[in-house]
Amino acid sequence: MSVKIRLGIIGGGGDSLIGILHRVASAMFDKYEIVGGVFNPNWKENSSFAKKLGLNENRVYKDFDTFIAEETKLPIEKRVQVVSVLTPNFLHFPMANTLLENGFHVICEKPMTTTYEEAKTLYTTLQKAKTIFAVTYTYTGYPMVRQMREMILNGEIGNVQKIDAQYYQGWINPILHDKEQRAATWRLNPVKSGISCCIGDIGTHSFNMLEYISGVKIESILADLNHVYDDNPMDVDGTILLRASNNVKGVICASQIATGEENSFVVKIYGDKAGLKWEQENPNYLYLMEDGKPLQVLKPGHAYNSKLSLDGTKLPPGHPEGIFDSMGNIYKGIAKAINKEPYNAGEFPTIIDGIRGMDFIEKAVASHKNGNVWVAIDEN
Ligand SMILES: NC(=O)c1ccc[n+]([C@@H]2O[C@H](COP(=O)([O-])OP(=O)(O)OC[C@H]3O[C@@H](n4cnc5c(N)ncnc54)[C@H](O)[C@@H]3O)[C@@H](O)[C@H]2O)c1
Repeated sequence: MSVKIRLGIIGGGGDSLIGILHRVASAMFDKYEIVGGVFNPNWKENSSFAKKLGLNENRVYKDFDTFIAEETKLPIEKRVQVVSVLTPNFLHFPMANTLLENGFHVICEKPMTTTYEEAKTLYTTLQKAKTIFAVTYTYTGYPMVRQMREMILNGEIGNVQKIDAQYYQGWINPILHDKEQRAATWRLNPVKSGISCCIGDIGTHSFNMLEYISGVKIESILADLNHVYDDNPMDVDGTILLRASNNVKGVICASQIATGEENSFVVKIYGDKAGLKWEQENPNYLYLMEDGKPLQVLKPGHAYNSKLSLDGTKLPPGHPEGIFDSMGNIYKGIAKAINKEPYNAGEFPTIIDGIRGMDFIEKAVASHKNGNVWVAIDEN
């Protein structure tokens, strides 16, 4: 009998952006075996993709309801244990909630739901299910992001006094500026995407990342968003001022119309002794800045890194870690939790991160709509 965790996947078919990342991540540490799922609502696409992956056809289902009905008939030692939900946003909540109700562990893509209310309902369901629930804020798995978190936790930059995240992409330009395309994509459809496009998609990564690495809790926000066209119901750009615990202030700048940018996610945390800067497009360099001293560049795999960072490095220094490794590290942490092994709280984002993310999205939209006013983030 396989000792690997039996993984099911919903969404993430051959036509998707994120499916490949999860499949590679799940294979990275030999902890999971993909046994089945529903990769696409179209049966032909679904079954031919599953065949390509070499899956047993009996475990590839025509839709999510059939997945639940058939998997729960199987003896517990054969049944899928954890399910990755990789569909468009509006399906995360109904699917994740049903999965929890049926005793599955869940790995859910972000944004976790389409509303804050749904996120809180999911929390209630999880309290009853008592299974593992993770939200894939992918970038928290990078070794140098983990190093940043540990250095700040250990006081190495002193008291945090300013937090700053800039997440710039330009991919939506061709879609946005074509009237037909902007009406057709699920990402600019509030029914499928939720109330925000840019803040929901990448602003939420920024919010989670700042809290993950700095240890401060963001307490209130003031947002100025841009839809660009009057007939576009969704934001594609936003600047958000932050007030956090311990008198920390900061800013999140997020954009999908930053022309020419690819996935430029830059995070900076300044303490009263030193500053740290990390850039997603160059993720193996962590910059340590101190007044009057030369800039230091920290890299993965060296003994000077924390245990949490080193746990996410597979090869000696000089072998670059990338986005696949980052997601692989998150899957590794989730496997430890499922197998009831000890793990560090920084190894994977939880439902609390998902709930805070949904609150942030709704409050950002409310702040903007009400004339750019300060709005409090709840204490979840
Ligand atoms: N963590 C990250 O950094 C990151 C990056 C990109 C996307 N995402 C998230 O991943 C999710 C998917 O995004 P994407 O860009 O891959 O979307 P996509 O549109 O490229 O792919 C969606 C996939 O879901 C499948 N699907 C749709 N409805 C389904 C259903 N009813 N049953 C089964 N499968 C279904 C589609 O066939 C497709 O394979 C979104 O929530 C998005 O926010 C996260």
